[in-house]
Amino acid sequence: MKIVIFGANGPTGRLLTEQALAGGHSVTAITRHPEQFPIEHEQLRVMQGDVYDLASVENAVARQDAVLSTLGVPFSRQPIQVYSQGIDHIIQAMNRFGVRRLVCVSSSATEPHADPQGGFFFEKIVQPVIVNTIGKTLYEDMRRMEKMVKNTNLDWTIVRPSGLFETSEVTPYQMAENHIRGRFTSRADLANCMLGQLSSDRYLQKVAAVATVAVQPSMLKLIMREAFQSKHK
Ligand SMILES: NC(=O)c1ccc[n+]([C@@H]2O[C@H](COP(=O)([O-])OP(=O)(O)OC[C@H]3O[C@@H](n4cnc5c(N)ncnc54)[C@H](OP(=O)(O)O)[C@@H]3O)[C@@H](O)[C@H]2O)c1
Repeated sequence: MKIVIFGANGPTGRLLTEQALAGGHSVTAITRHPEQFPIEHEQLRVMQGDVYDLASVENAVARQDAVLSTLGVPFSRQPIQVYSQGIDHIIQAMNRFGVRRLVCVSSSATEPHADPQGGFFFEKIVQPVIVNTIGKTLYEDMRRMEKMVKNTNLDWTIVRPSGLFETSEVTPYQMAENHIRGRFTSRADLANCMLGQLSSDRYLQKVAAVATVAVQPSMLKLIMREAFQSKHK
């Protein structure tokens, strides 16, 4: 298939690009910084694009079979709009060019579920702080994005991972509709899960939750890493 990936230059997007190319797809990778994009392949086209710019989104989406988005920004105290404005432009472009399949990443934190076995520290401190304070503006915008996607007639799938971490390869991850128990999702698993949607109708016009179960990162390391990244991106 011919697929366009928004957010291709992020850590999940790069894995998704590699997996899609390995799977025989032709990939258009969208980044604001093409000079920093590390992958080269004969079936890969790297295009400069900013989702705030409708013309560049239209240019990217024209003649594609599917759109995948791993677009993201760090937490911020300021209002965040990139998810909702980005998806608005992506939806407009898909409608204009008759592209139907959309797979985009959201987060399990858009609809948190209590987990009685989650432990006091996670349930009472980490999750509320992330969802209601540090990540408040980001999750508000992700919810706006989800609502806009659900209001389309496109063949959409919203993928909700939990805390992202790295594994060296894809693991036997689990999926479920809307919500799945599990605090973490490896980026390799998330990429594999997104790509898998292109050959499956199981989660068509549905929300797919995805969790890594075979390995777990250290909570402390994860928090430190994400906190460090959010300050320095
Ligand atoms: N971190 C977590 O624990 C976690 C948990 C659940 C869900 N998520 C979500 O999972 C997704 C993937 O996360 P990630 O950490 O792999 O990626 P990420 O670092 O959040 O972002 C991916 C890429 O989006 C691109 N981007 C940002 N603003 C853009 C704009 N205006 N126009 C075009 N591209 C733009 C950036 O690439 P360029 O600068 O090259 O353009 C960036 O590298 C994100 O949606 C994230 O919010 C993350």
